Amino acid sequence: MYPVLHEALLRGPVMPVLVIPDISMAAPLAEALASGGLTVFEITLRTECALDAMVVMRDAVPEALIGAGTVTNADRIRQANDFGADFVVSPGTTQLLLNASIEHQLPILPGFSSASEAMALMELGSRYGKFFPAEISGGVNYLHALAGPLPDFLVCPTGGIKAETAGHYLACPNVVCVGGSWIAPIDLLTEGNYTEIEARARQAASLKSL
Ligand code: 3PG
Repeated sequence: MYPVLHEALLRGPVMPVLVIPDISMAAPLAEALASGGLTVFEITLRTECALDAMVVMRDAVPEALIGAGTVTNADRIRQANDFGADFVVSPGTTQLLLNASIEHQLPILPGFSSASEAMALMELGSRYGKFFPAEISGGVNYLHALAGPLPDFLVCPTGGIKAETAGHYLACPNVVCVGGSWIAPIDLLTEGNYTEIEARARQAASLKSL
């Protein structure tokens, strides 16, 4: 286990999942999130400016831990490494992804959605996984059930989680933090409504188990 991934998962209750349409949004977004108390970011590699946005956001918030999200092939791990990511997040897991993570010494939060996939990750030495897509893969009930036989496998669920449901996930004994896009959705970014993003970050940072 890489210490930086451990720190990223334990620093706060919520990891915002970010889709950034324009590079001009990166600095004010990072500042709004940090002002609200969130300093671990998952920047999805789904937009053209995503890699550059990682650099801009690190400059804006030097204490931030920056994860590159939507890492679906080994080349994206190489790119994330070149642009200074602290870790990467994948929606699922393949051997090539795991190999690239080791090759670049870049920690990965690997995706899984079943007990078998979690067990396969444990066999390979991973203590953590991203449960995705959380809500439609069984949600809170599934995670409570998984915690019985696999109590040591710790989880960051994402996919369909909202401010109102995050606390239920955080109450699962195997959940270390949750991920979600509700803090900084594209409509707020497009409006330039960083005040609302900061307010949502503050609310997310103060979330407790329900
Ligand atoms: C993702 O990678 O898209 C995350 O799981 C975010 O899901 P959400 O938009 O439902 O929060």
